[in-house]
Formats: sequence, structure tokens, C-alpha cells
Amino acid sequence: MDMIRFVILTVSDSCSKGEKDDEAGPELMSLINNHFGNTSKIEHVEILPDEKSQIKDFLKKWSSHNRSDVIFTVGGTGLSPRDVTPEATKSVIEREVPGISLAILCKSLEITDMAMLSRSVTGIRNNTLIINFPGSTKAVGECFGFIKNVIPHAVALLK
Ligand code: MTE
Repeated sequence: MDMIRFVILTVSDSCSKGEKDDEAGPELMSLINNHFGNTSKIEHVEILPDEKSQIKDFLKKWSSHNRSDVIFTVGGTGLSPRDVTPEATKSVIEREVPGISLAILCKSLEITDMAMLSRSVTGIRNNTLIINFPGSTKAVGECFGFIKNVIPHAVALLK
């Protein structure tokens, strides 16, 4: 099996300014390493503010020229006026993958009603799967657990 190449983008105004430590991004990194081990590579991690144009440019860059297989965004999916990760994602994807977002929503609702407040989307640009996760460390752990088993087959289908 080919190595799965992951990119993690934390979207947070406060983390990008250094006012808060990013805990969810590193948590996702260790979940990926623990689950996929040496069949995976974390190609790049970054923190950006909740700015649509910066998120878009980042997603475009890392889904071009065969740079990555899966991009996880973490945060910015809620209802606050600054939460624009889903809009940035929708503006770059070519095809939606509603099943992954639906699975995240349905399984999350079994844990917390607050899952209704995430507008996470999933889609494909070129050969890269882009998946939005909510921003808390707890949510990241739960959401990764829900979808981790479909990632290898999803990535294989995109080749
Ligand atoms: N989904 C899961 N599985 N677990 C959670 O704790 N938190 C919710 C929701 N989805 C949560 C979750 C909450 S409280 C919010 S406000 C939204 O995700 C949006 O989070 P975000 O703005 O950090 O992306």
C-alpha cells in the first residue's frame, strides 16, 4: 500500500496570533501517527486565522501538483461570523463527499447535541480529499475515530 500523505490546517484567529496554543492540530497529528503508523506521512502542518482567502489559498496549494492525499482542517466550522472554513472549502472543491460529513454529524450527535452547530463539509479537489473537523481537541478525537477506517479506501479510489 502507498504511503498516505496528510496535511493538517488549524484555523483559529487566537492560535494564529500566538494568544493560545494549538492543541487540536497536534492531537490530530498523534492520532494519525498512532493509527496509520509508517503507512502515513504528515506532509505539512499550519495554523491560519479565520480568513477565507488564506484558507482557500492554502487548500488550493496543498491539493495541487499531487502534494497530498488528505487535508484535514480543524476549526472554524461553527456559527460565529468569523467561522468561514466550510465556505473556503466549498469554494475550492470540485466534488462533494456528503457521506463523510453526514457520518461525522450522525455519529457526533450520538455524543452531543452541540454537533448540530458544526457546518463541516468534505470534498475532493484534484486527487486530494479535504475534510473539515470542528476545532476542539475532544471533537477532533471523536471525528477522527468515526472516519479513520474509510480513509485508505477513499484515498485508493482517488488515484
Ligand atoms: N462534534 C463532536 N463530535 N464533538 C464535539 O464536542 N462540538 C460542537 C460541534 N461539533 C463537538 C462537535 C461545538 S460545541 C461546536 S460550536 C461546533 O462543533 C463548531 O466548532 P468549531 O467552530 O470549533 O469548528
